[in-house]
Amino acid sequence: MPDTILIIDDEAAIRDSLAGILVDEGFAPLTAGSADEGMQLLDEKDIRLVLLDIWMPGMDGLEALKLIKQRFPLLPVIMISGHGTIETAVQATRSGAFDFIEKPLSYDKTILSIKKGLQLAHLERENQLLRESGPAPISITGNSSLIVHMRQQIERVAPTDAWVLIRGGHGTGKELVAQTIHRHSRRSRQLMVAVNCAAIPEELIESELFGHVKGAFTGATENKKGKFDQADGSTLFLDEIGDMSLKSQAKVLRILQEQRFERVGGSKTIEVDVRVLAATNKNLEEEIERGRFRADLFYRLNVVPIMVPDLVDRRDDIPLLVADFVGQFSRKGIGHKRFSTGAIDLLQRHAWPGNVRELRNLVERLVIMTATEEITDKDVALFLGNVPLLQPPVSPMESRYRDFDYKEARRRFEADYLLAKLEENDGNISKTAEQIGMERSHLHKKVKALGIVVK
Ligand SMILES: Nc1ncnc2c1ncn2[C@@H]1O[C@H](COP(=O)(O)OP(=O)(O)OP(=O)(O)O)[C@@H](O)[C@H]1O
Ligand SMILES: [Mg+2]
Repeated sequence: MPDTILIIDDEAAIRDSLAGILVDEGFAPLTAGSADEGMQLLDEKDIRLVLLDIWMPGMDGLEALKLIKQRFPLLPVIMISGHGTIETAVQATRSGAFDFIEKPLSYDKTILSIKKGLQLAHLERENQLLRESGPAPISITGNSSLIVHMRQQIERVAPTDAWVLIRGGHGTGKELVAQTIHRHSRRSRQLMVAVNCAAIPEELIESELFGHVKGAFTGATENKKGKFDQADGSTLFLDEIGDMSLKSQAKVLRILQEQRFERVGGSKTIEVDVRVLAATNKNLEEEIERGRFRADLFYRLNVVPIMVPDLVDRRDDIPLLVADFVGQFSRKGIGHKRFSTGAIDLLQRHAWPGNVRELRNLVERLVIMTATEEITDKDVALFLGNVPLLQPPVSPMESRYRDFDYKEARRRFEADYLLAKLEENDGNISKTAEQIGMERSHLHKKVKALGIVVK
């Protein structure tokens, strides 16, 4: 379908010649002899661009422009005038005109301007659609209560500007958590900037984070922007923050307090708007005791701590994770495989010191190396090698309630269940009651009667 373009001009000769040009170029022109007539057509037709004369009897072009921009903010409007002065051009652009062309109209200039206007409007419409469709759903796989709880924390903290400390073992998904928080924040239109503090030599980390000025040290041949500069308006992910030098920690703390810093060797103070997400697998409390991590930085960062659980503590997520990875590898064309129940059982008995990353790598190796379509426990055993296995995951029935009579078992189950649900909701009775479909007052009584205390 050709794009419909509206020409609003009081001079019939101009309307006709412009309409002719537009038809030749494959557009569908519509014409109006006055602003009022034009406004009416805008209401009725699906118009993609407007060519608008400035001097017209009745409502003039500048007034019409304001009205059009109020009602159709994304519609590109090109102003045409026989009496072009810089002032009117400036005024028109301020009111939202896309371009300004002068009579007598140059054929090429007019067509070029129209094409650019249509292109820009197309991009803006696409952007708006993307914004309206909202962020992608959180893709942290898992249904275990630990993961459900973590996902709730992420949803709560993501839209705020709070700094977050993400803690957890190797390969548990700390970076995935950081990415997810960023994607669900108001900063998501810009890319998150990540710095691995452990991978940068201590003497370079300050210049990496804050930038440096030419001549600040040997090798500093140019002024260089740091990661904090690059992340202005966005999120900075400080990975392995426990490996940062005390000097850098002091600077980071200052940014946290004042949102400003100086480049290495520079005296100018630079202000930025950066949200920091930090991650570590170190025991920072221990690092503080040994004098290797600043306590004040820890407390400022730890306002919103997120603990990423070890895989071994959420073994019920393993089937889902395996299915997820099998799907990913199959989409990548690596191969489509199935895991037998026995294979999954065995995977649930491995201790996973390398957590989800280890599981993902193992699934990938198995998918590539197993010749048959089904991957069995024998295949898994071969790849796991001779490692000690854990007991199979226990069912609650076996572990906690077996030795009691019905009444006591029920009392214990109620207490376990309500405590877990209350903890998920940070001890909030109303929220918990709503989540589990129980009267608030009833829940309150139960909590008292069972002597439940949320830590
Ligand atoms: N819950 C999850 N669902 C799906 N994939 C996950 C999940 N957790 C982790 N992964 C995947 O596991 C791998 C390791 O995750 P990630 O790099 O985020 O971990 P990490 O904690 O930062 O690891 P390291 O300590 O080594 O830096 C990635 O491929 C990630 O996509
Ligand atoms: Mg990581």
